[in-house]
Parts: sequence; C-alpha cells; structure tokens
Amino acid sequence: MRCFLGLDISTTATKAVLVDEAGEVLGISAASHRLSTPRPLWSEQDPHDWWAATQEAVARLLERSGVSGASVAAVGLAGQMHGLVLLDESGDVIRPAILWNDQRASAECEEIRARMGGLETLVAATGNDAFAGFSAPKLLWVRNNEPATYARVRQVLLPKDYVRFRLTGEYATDRADAGGTLFLDLETRDWSPRVLGALEVPREWLSRTHEGTEITGGLSRAAAEALGLEAGTPVVGGAGDQAAQAVGVGAVSPGTFALTVGTSGVVFAPADRPLFDARGRAHAFPHAVPGAWHLMGVMLSAAGSLQWYHDTLAPEVSFDALVAEADPVPPGADGLLFLPYLSGERTPHADPRARGTFFGLALSHGRGHLTRSVLEGVAFGLRDNLELLGDAGLARPSSLRASGGALKSTTWRGILADVLDVPLEIVETPEAAAVGAALLAGTGVGAWATAGDAARAAVRVLGVREPSPERVRRYAEIHTTFRALYPALKPHFPA
Ligand code: XUL
Repeated sequence: MRCFLGLDISTTATKAVLVDEAGEVLGISAASHRLSTPRPLWSEQDPHDWWAATQEAVARLLERSGVSGASVAAVGLAGQMHGLVLLDESGDVIRPAILWNDQRASAECEEIRARMGGLETLVAATGNDAFAGFSAPKLLWVRNNEPATYARVRQVLLPKDYVRFRLTGEYATDRADAGGTLFLDLETRDWSPRVLGALEVPREWLSRTHEGTEITGGLSRAAAEALGLEAGTPVVGGAGDQAAQAVGVGAVSPGTFALTVGTSGVVFAPADRPLFDARGRAHAFPHAVPGAWHLMGVMLSAAGSLQWYHDTLAPEVSFDALVAEADPVPPGADGLLFLPYLSGERTPHADPRARGTFFGLALSHGRGHLTRSVLEGVAFGLRDNLELLGDAGLARPSSLRASGGALKSTTWRGILADVLDVPLEIVETPEAAAVGAALLAGTGVGAWATAGDAARAAVRVLGVREPSPERVRRYAEIHTTFRALYPALKPHFPA
C-alpha cells in the first residue's frame, strides 16, 4: 500500500507523520527546534535547524513504523506561518528567520498602511490589516534597520518553503501560507502587483504560488539520500499550519469551523468566497482546499496562558491536578476574571502592548478560582474571535472541530463549549497539521479526488460536548464584563 509523508515545521519541532491510502496514521515522530529571543519582542530560529530536524524526524519515523522509503508516494508540507526567511543569490540563509510571534515591526505596519494609502485600501487589496508578525512588515524592518543584510536579499521564503527548497531545489509556496505574508491578492490567490509596487518589493524575490494539492517539484537525489526516500518523489504544496490543521480535522467547507487550543488559540472558518472583515481585524487567507478561502482569529496565549500560570504559580502540581481544583468552582470563579494577553494580543485587539490581568481578586478566592479564571479567560478570548468572524459575515458554525493538547481536559472542554455556545466535536487526529499535509500530498497524487474526500476518509470524531443552556446564559452575562475590561485598560497598558 502507498503512503504519504506529512511534515509540519512548527515552532517547537519538526513533526513527521505517515498516512496510508485508507487515511490511517501509521506513525509519528518529532525532532525539536531551538528558539532564540535575543531582545525583548524578538523571536528567531535558524532555518538550518529545520532541515536538520526534518532529517532526524523522518529517519526516526521510517525506523519506528517499519515502512520502507520506497512506499512513500508523496510528501506534503505544513509549517508555522508568517516567518521571514531570507536567502542570497546562492540560496544561502542570510540571517536568522524572524518568526510569527516576533513583535518588532509595529512601526513598519504603520508604514505599510501609509504606503497603501490607508487601512481601507490595504484591506481591499489583501483582505487583511498589517500585523507585526506578518512577513511584509518584517521585511520592511530589515530594510529599515539592517540595510547591508537587505542588499543581499534575492529570495524571501516562508519556513516550510525553506525545507521545500532543501527537498526539491525549487522556490515554491502554497496560497494559504502565502496569504500570511500580506503580499497576496485575496481574490486572485496570487501576489498583488499593487502591494509589491507600493512597498517596493521585487516580485522575483517571491516564490511561484501553488494550490495546496498541486505538485511543486520532486525530491532531489541528495535530499532523497538524506531522507531514505526515492529521488523524484512528488512534493505537494501543502499549507500553512492552520489551513493544514483544518484539513487534518475536517474543517474543509463552510459551517464546520476548527478550534485549536495550543500555545496560541485559533478559530478557523472555511468560506466559499474571499470574505474579509472591513477593518482587517480577522485574518482572511485562501484555504488549502483549491477554490476555498478561510477567515480566522488568532489569540497569542491560549494554552500558553495555562502553561505560564502553572510554571509560575504551581510548578509542583501536575496540570491534571491543578485543573481538577477548578472543577468545583462555579462559572465566573466568584467574580474573578483573567485577561489572557500575556504576549500582547493579535486578534481581535491587534495590540502588542496589551498585558495579562487578574481582575476582581478577593480574600475568598483560592487557587481553584485563579485556575478557573485562566481557563475561562482563554475561552472568552476565543469567543471574541468567534464573534469577530460573525461580524465579517459568517453564519454561526453548527459545530467546532476541536484539537490540541488542552482539549484532553474535560473541564476545559466544558468551559469552551459553554462559553462559545457551540457543540465541540473532539477529533482523534494527533498532530493534525502534519496529518493535513499528508492528506494534501495524497490528494496531489490521486489517492483521493479532493482534499475534502481525504479528510472524510481520515478524520474520526470521538465525541461531542454539547453546551449546557443554563451555563451558556451565565457565561453570556460574564462575557459582557470581560469585553468591557480591555477597552478600559488599553490606555494604561503602555505605561
Ligand atoms: C497563525 C499563526 C500561528 C503560527 C504558529 O496566523 O501565527 O498559528 O502559524 O504555528
């Protein structure tokens, strides 16, 4: 039986999975990456580490699964979005990659709005506002701050497309990930001459764009040898991690949204036309599914908030035990609220200077209350994002396909279903972005007719958590107070 290799070049690790033609996951492996934060607001990685981790993860995967390299019929790529990888004319990396969670380029976001003639024209051209983490503001930051580096640039790549370059020797990308650069025209699904002209960025620096299921090249002999695969094996477009993850959990057509609670928290909505928020507050990109688009809200600290809370205030307690203390505490944690803006916020506030806040502390509160308020604060932030997608014209979803380590907790699942007021479908898919990339690869070589068919073959819903009407009403009241806090505190965060 043929099988398909999916690679996810994530922030923490390169993850590799093998999926067969029946949609079964045959094996998973991972090899970690180093992260460097040389200055406040900076977040960087060395692209060479991604290639080294890819070789390590694939070798481990083939060994563990007992699958021979010859049965791998296609490779698909997923990866952290928005990263800026700069190559010189020999294809060598010029400086460390600047990642999606790097916040240095806020002045360049202003510069982009001004060069485009204002927010409205920028949003009309791209479907998006400029966010500090996106590739375009970071490229302008390099131009403004590192002119000698900028003078050497000949190729601008996204993280997974650097690995594609090492696999195939080709400069190519997929349209979902390309959306996150801010150089893409949302309607034509290709680079926007208008944006490139206004920002004075040469089109030759950007890769060829492909749909997520298109073949972008074949494995070079050197790469095939390094990975233990066959030379010429097709390498398919794939997608940025969020669109790939959506395929991996089956959020491939309107009505079924994906909810991811990882370090960041994402509400992802497939659309059958290029929808966007008039103020560019939500991200509007092509989907990995050809002819489809998506809108998404991305909060920066979701499970990341709980991780910080645990590591800082209760490192000696297991996560399960800590969360169990929140269970008997009533919804609303007896008047305690938590704002989850520990690393600033992306959507809906677009504010790198926002900060986390406990509000309403009283002598009667114990650790269970604090824990519950953290779980609820993340859920309220996700609700703000769900409502943002509604403002952009999307109907409420009939269900949310939920994945991410945090969803293993039944307490947090319940809070999410009740705060969001949507049934949560818990899916089995481990490493959904890498699995999504493998499904796109299989579709690219004809194992399934469409990415939707691939997702239907592979995705299994383990159970559904319905919202409880009484708690939904209670949380709607509390959310009104939560919503009022950010605008009240906003002027004070910079100080
Ligand atoms: C999406 C985003 C993150 C990264 C991290 O817009 O910034 O989800 O892709 O993996």
